[in-house]
Amino acid sequence: MINTLKTPLIQNVGTRRSLSLNGAFRTIVDPYENGYYDYRYQLQTSEGYFQNRKPTSKTDRVEYDFDRSETLRVPGDWNSQRDELFFYEGTIWYKTTFELELEPSRRLFVYFAGANYEAKVYVNGVLVGGHVGGFTPFNFEVTDQVRSGENVLIVKVDNRRRREGVPTLNTDWWNYGGLTRDVWLLDVPATFIRDYSLKLASRDADRITGWVQLDGAELAQRVTLRIPEAAIEVTTEADAQGFAKFDVPASLELWCCERPKLYAVEFSIQGERIEDRIGFRTLETRGHDILLNGVSVFLRGISLHEQAPRREGRAVTRGDAETLLGWAQELDVNFVRLAHYPHHEHTARLADELGLLLWAEIPVYWTIDWENPETLANAKNQLEELVVRDKNRASVVIWSVGNETPIGDARNRFMAELVASVRALDDSRLVSAALERRQVEPGIELIDDPLGALLDVVGCNEYLGWYDGLPDKADSVSFQTAYDKPLVISEFGADALYGYHADALTRWSEEYQANVYTHQIAMLERIPFLRGVTPWILTDFRSPRRPLPQIQDFWNRKGLISDAGQKKQAFFVLKEYYQRLIARFRG
Ligand code: GCU
Repeated sequence: MINTLKTPLIQNVGTRRSLSLNGAFRTIVDPYENGYYDYRYQLQTSEGYFQNRKPTSKTDRVEYDFDRSETLRVPGDWNSQRDELFFYEGTIWYKTTFELELEPSRRLFVYFAGANYEAKVYVNGVLVGGHVGGFTPFNFEVTDQVRSGENVLIVKVDNRRRREGVPTLNTDWWNYGGLTRDVWLLDVPATFIRDYSLKLASRDADRITGWVQLDGAELAQRVTLRIPEAAIEVTTEADAQGFAKFDVPASLELWCCERPKLYAVEFSIQGERIEDRIGFRTLETRGHDILLNGVSVFLRGISLHEQAPRREGRAVTRGDAETLLGWAQELDVNFVRLAHYPHHEHTARLADELGLLLWAEIPVYWTIDWENPETLANAKNQLEELVVRDKNRASVVIWSVGNETPIGDARNRFMAELVASVRALDDSRLVSAALERRQVEPGIELIDDPLGALLDVVGCNEYLGWYDGLPDKADSVSFQTAYDKPLVISEFGADALYGYHADALTRWSEEYQANVYTHQIAMLERIPFLRGVTPWILTDFRSPRRPLPQIQDFWNRKGLISDAGQKKQAFFVLKEYYQRLIARFRG
């Protein structure tokens, strides 16, 4: 099973009564999972680390002790916190304690914004749940497991890559393991507002529709929606399952990149009020065009990994997101591809505020185990957790179901399942994927991957000038597409070591990278059905596949900005292109 004891995801935890469990956790590095299996490889019953046992007499044998073990900072990957963990792939046990004064008729949930890759969660020695997937949130109810006074939270995190995983064994990014995102204890009323959705009802933007899902014993009760600035206050009755629907006339200022208008929205029931800030906009495609609020847009974008700016490790804080999206804005982008996995929730919330459009993606990447039903269930689950979490974010316009997956019958069936799944979860956004193209004759690249027939927007990665010929090869290439749909070139790029200068044909130099961008941009300008670009990539990022000494040193150097935050020449080539597009667009 990919998720044991899974409880439905709680929406918008940042606004709820909570206790942050972030901080220094005691940890035990456990490469043989000795705290989970006994010497016969059977589940531990008396010596599991999750029991947090202490010796009770001088003869008692206990071969672990969290409280004398080293700590790790949470949130944060373990790879960047200790040199000996830089390449570590395996299990690390985390332990923290928290004090409680239990109140009647309150419910408590432990919530993880993300843990890479597989987590098992124990409260006071009891398994409360497990989760697979390194980049999506999960929560478990612990009301019956906690007590007044001190409580013990222990989490087993295992970041080993696996053939049947999502992603699978090979990725071009670092396998940062651990409790990489925030951990909270949520304190909610006995019946609470667990989830909600609110968006424009139609293309003509004169109504909003939505729903609220309650959770608890008193489900059939009144639910009120207020949007004070839009003079909206409406109350409806939730049904016996706690589900309440809204359909309200509205006269709203629409959210857009230039004016990212967010409305204060309040949902309330007896004993609880949840606030959020939501933007309202329309989104559709028409032939090759992408229409935002009925106006065709060109997505001036950049791809982004969650690589911490100017330091080692996974980007984890809102400050990291502010730095990274700030650098993207210096490029004059209006669009960011959050590659190749769900980024932290605060990134989409920040993009809402900044007026940036987002491509969100699940890590169905390269050679996934297409025939494995567990793998499909895992991918669907990660997709659902992403959509449930970010469905109220105006900035998110594209759900991507994968990246560079090789065409084949099993893959086509798998991806068709994902497209159907995401459309069932959310019919208001565009569905895409980063496909590959094929050369049909010298100089002609054709995009006709059968998956494209199921997508709204066709993404396509190409590396003319880096993996495919030299920079000027782009001059003699034209693109064709089998689809009357918008095209986003979702990757192109080249490596450059910041500060390495040479002529424009010396690989790894800043000049070579800039040369690739110059020829690529001239080619892109010749594609009439192109509606967006997300060059690879904003910043250098760690990859185990990039060992070249003195150049890569386990960094993928395709960043326009170095790992130290320094802008390379190609940064300014792309910026100049986007400034030309802005000027042209404004006429
Ligand atoms: C691929 C892949 C990226 C990878 C990039 C590269 O297109 O999608 O994840 O990092 O190429 O080779 O740098």
